[in-house]
Amino acid sequence: MTDNMDAARIIGYFKGKTILITGSTGFLGKILVEKILRVQPDVSRIYLLVRATDAPSAKQRVQQEVTDTELFSLLRDKYGEGFDLFIQEKVVPLAGDITNEGLGLEPPTFDDLAKEMDVIVNIAATTNFYQRYDVSLNVNVMGVKHLYQFAKQCANLKMFMHVSSAYVSGDSTELILEKPIKPGEALREGMRLDIDDELRLVSDVKNELTTTTTNGDDARAAERKAMKELGLQRARHFGWSNTYVFTKAMGEMLLGQLRGGDDDMPVVIVRPSIITSVRSDPVPGWMQGTRTIDTLIIGYAKQNLSCFLADLRMVMDVIPGDMVVNAMLAAVVAHSGERGAGAGAQAMTIYQPTSSLRNPVTYAVLYRSGRRHFEEHPRVKDNGEVIPNNKMRFFTTIPRFRLYMILSYKLPLEMLHMSNLLLCGLFSQLYKDSNRKYKHVMLLVDVYGPFAFFKGCFDDTNMERLRSMMVMNTPEDEMFNFDPKTIDWDDYFYKIHIPGVLKYVCK
Ligand SMILES: NC(=O)c1ccc[n+]([C@@H]2O[C@H](COP(=O)([O-])OP(=O)(O)OC[C@H]3O[C@@H](n4cnc5c(N)ncnc54)[C@H](OP(=O)(O)O)[C@@H]3O)[C@@H](O)[C@H]2O)c1
Repeated sequence: MTDNMDAARIIGYFKGKTILITGSTGFLGKILVEKILRVQPDVSRIYLLVRATDAPSAKQRVQQEVTDTELFSLLRDKYGEGFDLFIQEKVVPLAGDITNEGLGLEPPTFDDLAKEMDVIVNIAATTNFYQRYDVSLNVNVMGVKHLYQFAKQCANLKMFMHVSSAYVSGDSTELILEKPIKPGEALREGMRLDIDDELRLVSDVKNELTTTTTNGDDARAAERKAMKELGLQRARHFGWSNTYVFTKAMGEMLLGQLRGGDDDMPVVIVRPSIITSVRSDPVPGWMQGTRTIDTLIIGYAKQNLSCFLADLRMVMDVIPGDMVVNAMLAAVVAHSGERGAGAGAQAMTIYQPTSSLRNPVTYAVLYRSGRRHFEEHPRVKDNGEVIPNNKMRFFTTIPRFRLYMILSYKLPLEMLHMSNLLLCGLFSQLYKDSNRKYKHVMLLVDVYGPFAFFKGCFDDTNMERLRSMMVMNTPEDEMFNFDPKTIDWDDYFYKIHIPGVLKYVCK
């Protein structure tokens, strides 16, 4: 990794390049696709692998979920009536699925693609913390393997980039380094994590369920429940807090295991923390989906959440989506063409686009910005009534929140249960529904709680090295800014992120 990097070098790199991107229908993927197309219209082709039954449905998905979104408005304005033609020439939707060997592509397509591919960026993932274990393993682990196998067939490949998560490191309280996960490494000392064993376990549990449960809806529901519980149980067994980060960690581990040889392709792993709305380029505030921290904004906006699990003094590590994409583009260019350890390059470089080390922001800033926003922009109900800005109550530990839930909800629920028994089931439905909601809240606390109290700080030495190469002389160079130190968090939350959540998530 050498030389200075500026906008011209990044833009120039993508000229004539052929790129395969997975996960383009998701939040981060779209930002990447839009940016490459906007800054380098002479990119050769961008292939977008999307889950679809056939080519026409893949095309329809890409149009509806990617290029027709507001994120592409700058590009649409630039090309006017020629927009659709431009997209048609540059973007090739592929019906496929990373969980399949060969990515679910027909052999001629697979081989032809392999001949022309320059860069592969794997963004696809299942990001549900409480996903079924079999599904998470298939997408977040085996999906990485299948893409890497494809990458091995690409004679001219210059870069394999994989997007992971900063939280693969688990609930550490120390400085979390940009270092690879070693084969077999678990977070609990003395344990060995074997991916093949996990795949076998899933298969055994499923087989056992097939022999013990009858077919039909009940069997499917039982399998779904068992798989979800198994994921969480295995994650915690090895020291991770949920199925998502656990399987993302295994995805990275597998990538390390698959590599070998001096002439191996360059691999870059990008581990962002919590990705928030676009800060400046192309559409400030644009976002898709709800981050955990956004439930605070949405609950406050609707005033349907009286309490929240957070310590306002704690740092939440967030990073705007456009900064993550800018870091990805710079990293592709910086490492392109490097060959394995023998060429003097690092075998696999890890980047953590995060903010906790360089420009930490606390929950208090988010809360303060939210209150300021809603006081200055009061919300009105359909009947004209102004929604009040009541203060929210924060629980600073999980045990305190559990106690509150028991006293406020569980005890009254038990009393309802007793009354129901005495009154021959008069309140059965009410009890059932309330109990289900109670259990759901407690499950959310169990799965998401550890994130709210995450105490680690992410090191970004590699990021800083990449940043130090960046020349920021012109407004064009600024379009590739990925320095979290340049973010004024109050301003960002107040002017950009909160309005973005209200516009694109609450709608
Ligand atoms: N969002 C964050 O705060 C955050 C933070 C750290 C790291 N990350 C990482 O960043 C990446 C993108 O996250 P995101 O928020 O953009 O996720 P997202 O919005 O949930 O998008 C996930 C994408 O993956 C695709 N996908 C899932 N399974 C697939 C399969 N079997 N084959 C092909 N494509 C598949 C989805 O396609 P469908 O539309 O077909 O479902 C979707 O396009 C992920 O790798 C995630 O782990 C995200």
